[in-house]
Amino acid sequence: ARIRRYRWEVKYEYRSPDCYKKLVITINGRAPGPTILAQQGDTIVVELNNSLLTENVAIHWHGIRQIGTPWFDGTEGVTQCPILPGDTFTYKFVVDRPGTYLYHAHYGMQRQAGLYGSIRVALPDGEAEPFSYDYDRSIILNDWYHQSTSEQAVGLSSKPFVWVEEPQSLLIQGRGKFDCTSSPSIGDGLCNASSPDCSPYAMTVVPGKPYRLRIGRLPALAALRLEIEGHNMSVVEADGHNVEPFVVKNLFIYSGETYSVLIKADQNPSRNYWMSSKVVSRNSTTPNGLAIFNYYPNHPRRNPPTVPPAGPLSNDLAPRVAQSNAIKSHQGYALPPPLKPDRVIVLLNTQNEINGYKRWSLNNVSLKFPHTPYVIALGEKLLHSFDQTPPPDSYDVANYDIYSIANNTNAIASNSIYRLQFNTIVDIILQNANTMTADNSVTHPWHLHGHDFWVLGYGTGKFDVNSDPKKYNLVNPIMKNTVPLHPYGWTALRIRADNPGVWAFHCHIEYHFYMGMGVVFEEGIERLGRLPSSVMGCGATKAFHRP
Ligand code: C2O
Ligand code: CU
Repeated sequence: ARIRRYRWEVKYEYRSPDCYKKLVITINGRAPGPTILAQQGDTIVVELNNSLLTENVAIHWHGIRQIGTPWFDGTEGVTQCPILPGDTFTYKFVVDRPGTYLYHAHYGMQRQAGLYGSIRVALPDGEAEPFSYDYDRSIILNDWYHQSTSEQAVGLSSKPFVWVEEPQSLLIQGRGKFDCTSSPSIGDGLCNASSPDCSPYAMTVVPGKPYRLRIGRLPALAALRLEIEGHNMSVVEADGHNVEPFVVKNLFIYSGETYSVLIKADQNPSRNYWMSSKVVSRNSTTPNGLAIFNYYPNHPRRNPPTVPPAGPLSNDLAPRVAQSNAIKSHQGYALPPPLKPDRVIVLLNTQNEINGYKRWSLNNVSLKFPHTPYVIALGEKLLHSFDQTPPPDSYDVANYDIYSIANNTNAIASNSIYRLQFNTIVDIILQNANTMTADNSVTHPWHLHGHDFWVLGYGTGKFDVNSDPKKYNLVNPIMKNTVPLHPYGWTALRIRADNPGVWAFHCHIEYHFYMGMGVVFEEGIERLGRLPSSVMGCGATKAFHRP
């Protein structure tokens, strides 16, 4: 195994990713940031210099389990103090599994400002995946807002509440196209349709060759659907795990998920094709994101002769649930789940109002971080720094109607956490419900830090603790780190609490998490050695010496 060292300078620069000029966070001048390429077992060292001038930062290595290094998980408020402007912080961790992963900001809502990139971990020499291809490519799909993170944060935490509304555009590998002739941008001098920043991304392919395309998803809000005109995609990997291959025309992807698909460049080679991403699950006004699937030797800037494909209706839930159910682990590569849980935690997802502020809650508790990050509070035994009463393991199942407008007048904001007994098996059931708007329930992509979970099943309506577990897939469930919770439905997950640390589990929609949509799990914290002093320096450790 090797040590791979990176030196990153993180700063704000003016860019026009969708032709509209705004401040974007770059890493060494690039947005998306550089791809981390490694091999299983390698140690990654990232020396990060915060040159944002007026903002803190922290970077999370999404999908990397941080075994033995929970303090380098990069989750501000949970695993470390923020990196102050001007400071340098060194992350050091092992990539212990092959596959496709992501990294992104985990401080405030900076992911929205463009601070993200891909991590690609190859198998050890001599080992092979259960599929083959000639070339390997990665793209990240994203949505894009013209407002700054601070403007959005202020709106979301104001009375009256100011919603961010729909994204202005969708980006494919950091490029999109906003219509500069639309008001209010017209005449404001910020939109430039011919800026080189917003020429569409082109993926060049050699006719006849098979490609592996790794797709990462990091939108702030929207669930997306990707289509490559005229080409089928065979899904082979999800969140670093081999999938029993299945073929799709449209791939639905939720924020925080990664997939690998195989594509054969087997269409008429005399032209180019559209790659398009489209918002699903909302009544969106956002135009589709477009890129060019470029057959060599056609010019990569030559537009395909066709109108980009429209794809299924955005409010059509059935094909999305069908895809969720189709993802099974590849035979022979699956680690089967333990057959029974030691503990079951049911989390009711609701929108609430707390003191007049709009929030999201789990079992009526909306997460707010303490001033001392949990890893530090627990590692240094500063237990007074957060609420020691655990949040509830369930909600009032018998009396709560998930189809009525949420009316949780007793919701509270709290920094309490779930403490799991080390090495036990825990089932987590996500239960969706109606929001505060009539006849409305929205998709939430849930992401767990520090673990992969088995996806035991999806269902509609209210989860029944007695009958629904009988329908679980205990034969070939896929393991993932991010999973959708569909409208008015439930999703059942199983984990083994065997990674000492403190781990966030939250909705990956930037705005929902910011509004409290997450919980925190602790397990085996007593097994950890001394915390590196570099993660300290805030909250109750303000006076601690920083190197
Ligand atoms: Cu990719 Cu806690 O997030
Ligand atoms: Cu959500």
